[in-house]
Amino acid sequence: MAGSTNGARKINADPHQSKIYSEFSRFYDKIFERIFFPRIARVIASLKIPPGARVLELGVGTGLSLSAYPSHCNVLGVDLAQDMLDQAADKVREHGWTHITLRQMDALNLELASNSFDYVAAFHVVSVVPDAARMMAEARRVCRAGGKLIIINHFRSERPLIGPLVDLADPVTRKLGWRTTLKLVDIIDGAPVSIEQKFKTSPRSLFTVVIARNEKEIAAFG
Ligand SMILES: C[S@@+](CC[C@H](N)C(=O)[O-])C[C@H]1O[C@@H](n2cnc3c(N)ncnc32)[C@H](O)[C@@H]1O
Repeated sequence: MAGSTNGARKINADPHQSKIYSEFSRFYDKIFERIFFPRIARVIASLKIPPGARVLELGVGTGLSLSAYPSHCNVLGVDLAQDMLDQAADKVREHGWTHITLRQMDALNLELASNSFDYVAAFHVVSVVPDAARMMAEARRVCRAGGKLIIINHFRSERPLIGPLVDLADPVTRKLGWRTTLKLVDIIDGAPVSIEQKFKTSPRSLFTVVIARNEKEIAAFG
């Protein structure tokens, strides 16, 4: 399997997972900022993240979300695509954000200690990675027991007509880098989490916000 490198370290992931984002990283904000940022900012504000909290954002991309985090918490943003991270790094530098660190990393194989974050967020990422359940298992591992998992994503509609209709778009969206068939149950079924909130920020929104408490036993992950 081909992989991208970061210095001497090999990222053990197939580049196709993020290739498309590398290719249009410079245009990403122009297309998506207006659509994604208001919802992300609202969700982050609603968390009322306390001073000193440790936050991990998976698939941080160009750092669209970064201005929404309070400067009193510590944020680590990881992404597979270095080009996306470069855009995020520009924002960090321009704003002088000392509370934000960025690292190139595969969200399916996090090189991070277990139980080391209070919040783990993934905005518009679970349907992009090839194994969303594995990504969520990694998110639960690095999140402390009782910590929060925050997901914003499109999930397959449970409505009888809409679901199959949107499935028709899946072959096209897969080529663009994401799946439209992912269901929320695919990533949380059987996992030790309790969903505290699940909502859409507007009735017609394609995106669902999920805030869940990590109910794992610490011993289960070591
Ligand atoms: C749709 S973008 C979302 C970016 C950002 N979270 C946002 O809301 O604007 C998906 C991101 O997931 C990243 N990604 C894809 N596969 C990944 C993986 N295995 N590990 C980490 N990041 C990954 C892509 O590089 C891309 O930046």
